[in-house]
Amino acid sequence: MEVPSRLVLAPMAGVSVQAFRRQGRRFGAGLVCSEMVSCAGLHHRNDRTLDYLRIATDEKPLAVQIFGSDPALMAEAARMVASAGADIVDMNFGCPVRKVTKTGAGCSLLDDPELACRITDAVASAVDVPVTVKMRRGVEDGSRTALSVGPRLVQAGAAALTLHPRSAKQMYTGTADHSLTAELVELVNVPVIASGDITSRARAHAVLATTGAAAVMVGRAAQGNPWALRAILEGPAAEPSAEEVAAELVLFIRETVQELGARRAGGFLKKFYGWYLGHGRFPRSFKSELTQIDDPEEVVRRLFAAAPGAIELVERLEAEHPSAEGVLLNLPISIYGGG
Ligand SMILES: Cc1cc2nc3c(=O)[nH]c(=O)nc-3n(C[C@H](O)[C@H](O)[C@H](O)COP(=O)(O)O)c2cc1C
Repeated sequence: MEVPSRLVLAPMAGVSVQAFRRQGRRFGAGLVCSEMVSCAGLHHRNDRTLDYLRIATDEKPLAVQIFGSDPALMAEAARMVASAGADIVDMNFGCPVRKVTKTGAGCSLLDDPELACRITDAVASAVDVPVTVKMRRGVEDGSRTALSVGPRLVQAGAAALTLHPRSAKQMYTGTADHSLTAELVELVNVPVIASGDITSRARAHAVLATTGAAAVMVGRAAQGNPWALRAILEGPAAEPSAEEVAAELVLFIRETVQELGARRAGGFLKKFYGWYLGHGRFPRSFKSELTQIDDPEEVVRRLFAAAPGAIELVERLEAEHPSAEGVLLNLPISIYGGG
C-alpha cells in the first residue's frame, strides 16, 4: 500500500472525526486514522460505534483503529472495518485510559505479549488489508517492553508498527523518547511510524533522520491547526489570516453537524473553537463567547460577523470539496446499512 507523504495524522478519541480526517488529507497528511473503535461495540452493532465506519472516498487512505482483548471479536471487528472500506486495520495496544485497560485492552496488552500476538495473528488472518499496531513504550516509566513485543507482533502478522515512546503511566507528561523508536527500527523489517511531540518541520526531520522511521505521526499539534501539517511538509509559511481560520472552522463545524447531528455536535465542537481561535488568532474574549453557545449555526453566524471575508472562502472551499455526504462510500457496513 502506498502512502503519499511521510506524515500520518494521529488517531485521537474525541477528535478524529471525519471532518478532522478529511481536512488532514487536504493539508497533506498521507494517511489518516479513525479514533479507536470498540470491537465489542461493533459486535453488538452499537449505533454510535457504527458511526465510526462512515468513510468518505476523499479521506482514503484511511486506517480504522480497533481495540479489544478477545482475538475472535477483534477478528470479527477487523472484517467489518475492512468491508466498510478501511485501507488499513490498526490495533490499539497503547491506550492508557482505565476504562480500556481494565478490560485487558490498550496498553494492558503490552504486559501480555502472548495474547497480543494471538490477537495480531487472528486479525491479520481475518482480512486482506494490512494490519498494523500502535503502542506505547510499555506500562511503567522507563519500560522497554515495546522493543521485546514489537518484533513478536511483526512475526504474528503486523505490517507496520507505530510507537509513541512514552509509558502508559506518563500519559502525556515528560517527552517522547525517540531513541526507543530508533532501536525498534533496527529490530524489525516493517515500517515504523514515530508518534509523539512532532510539532514542527525541524522536529519531524530530526526524528526521521535519527530514528530511520518511515513516517512521523502528528496528533496534538494538528488540533485546530491543519496549517501545522502543511508547515511540517512544506516549511514555514505565513500564519493563516483570520478569514482563513474562520473559513476552515466553519467548514469543520458544518461537516461535523452532518456527521453527529446538531445537538451532539454543539457540545463536541466547543473544544475546537479554542483550538482554532487560539495561537493569538482571535481575542480571548471571542473564544469564550463562542464556547457559551450550544447551537453550531449561531457560532457560524458569529464567525462570519467577525471575519466577513470568510464567507467567500467557505463558498470556494465547499465548491472544491463537496460535503462528505456526497462522497461517502456505499459499502455493506455503514451507519445506514448497519449490516
Ligand atoms: C485527545 C487524545 C486522544 C487520543 N486518542 C487516541 C486513540 O484513540 N488511539 C490511539 O492510538 N492514540 C490516541 N491518542 C494518542 C495519539 O495518537 C498520539 O500517539 C499522542 O498524542 C502523541 O502524539 P502527539 O505528541 O503528536 O500528540 C490520543 C491522544 C490525544 C491527545
